[in-house]
Amino acid sequence: MLILAFETSCDETSVAVLNNGTILSNVILSQMFHSEFGGVVPEIASREHLSRIAQITEEALSAAKVKIKEIDIIAATAQPGLIGALLIGLNFAKSVAATLNKPFIPVNHIHAHLYSAFIHENKPSLPLLSLIVSGGHTLLVLVEDYFRHRILGTTIDDAAGEAFDKVAKMMGLGYPGGPEIDKLSKSGNKDFYTFPKAKIKEGKYDFSFSGLKTSVLYYLRKIDFENSKNDKLIADICASFQTAVIESLFSNTLKAAKEFGVNTIAISGGVSANSALKRRFASLREKGYNIFIPELKYTTDNAAMVGITAYYEYIHSGDKTTFDRQSFNAVAKPRLDYGNF
Ligand code: KG4
Ligand code: ZN
Repeated sequence: MLILAFETSCDETSVAVLNNGTILSNVILSQMFHSEFGGVVPEIASREHLSRIAQITEEALSAAKVKIKEIDIIAATAQPGLIGALLIGLNFAKSVAATLNKPFIPVNHIHAHLYSAFIHENKPSLPLLSLIVSGGHTLLVLVEDYFRHRILGTTIDDAAGEAFDKVAKMMGLGYPGGPEIDKLSKSGNKDFYTFPKAKIKEGKYDFSFSGLKTSVLYYLRKIDFENSKNDKLIADICASFQTAVIESLFSNTLKAAKEFGVNTIAISGGVSANSALKRRFASLREKGYNIFIPELKYTTDNAAMVGITAYYEYIHSGDKTTFDRQSFNAVAKPRLDYGNF
């Protein structure tokens, strides 16, 4: 079964082709020019998606050696995301579905990050504890069954990636901040400064990063960062901040794994590209945990993860005809009835 999948929720235009859950192609165009604005400009993102989506679709089909007429199912990210950006991929995908008279599956972007853990041949078994860390979301989810998700924790303020981006901005580093901080931290001392860990009163497994961000700001002011900065100082602050984020993500996840007796853990989303975060989670393998970390190209936004989610929805859905009925709705609704997000 051939799936053609689209992702345009933010600043990546991506199209993938999958055959029975195996990735045949996954073309990703990252809109690098947003960095000069220090963040994604929605209108520019939408226009760029619009001007490139047809060409990227052709590239994905040709890389997969598949003709458009052979496609069985079309899928696209339907929410959450930037509305203008989403609508480009969604409407393009639905037009393809309408033209080919094939089912269309709208996909929830957070589901897509979660199910990126199932892209590789070695797939996690259930129950699975999934940590989804991106620029817009931080969620700790217990996957009891396919599309039966229990949210154990979420951020009460900033997302983990957002914290990386904001701290990078304060230090005058580029956008997105995560990859920059990751790179600079490699030559820094993670014990240089201990940024305070958030005390969370809300849910047991919730996260908070805005206090950490503020404490970095106060620290930069205290040391008169602008006038005292040098490569070593920047690297040390990056490493100390990064460690604070990682320890918060790691300790909550491990606490939940122990409490729920789950020994299979997956991390996904843009922040799971972080090399120190990956090392921290990989170290749990020595303690008998099964740890799943997607390859780099599947961590930040991509259409392969949208395709694999659509595939799992299709094979685990009892009523396949609903996909046909959804095809031509005015508003595509992801199958949120499957879980509480
Ligand atoms: O999943 P993603 O591409 O988009 C969203 O759905 O938000 O995640 C983007 C986020 C950005 O905040 C970026 O700074 C962060 O992922 N990120 C990283 C790294 N690579 C990307 N954060 C930390 N370390 C990295 N290596
Ligand atoms: Zn994402």
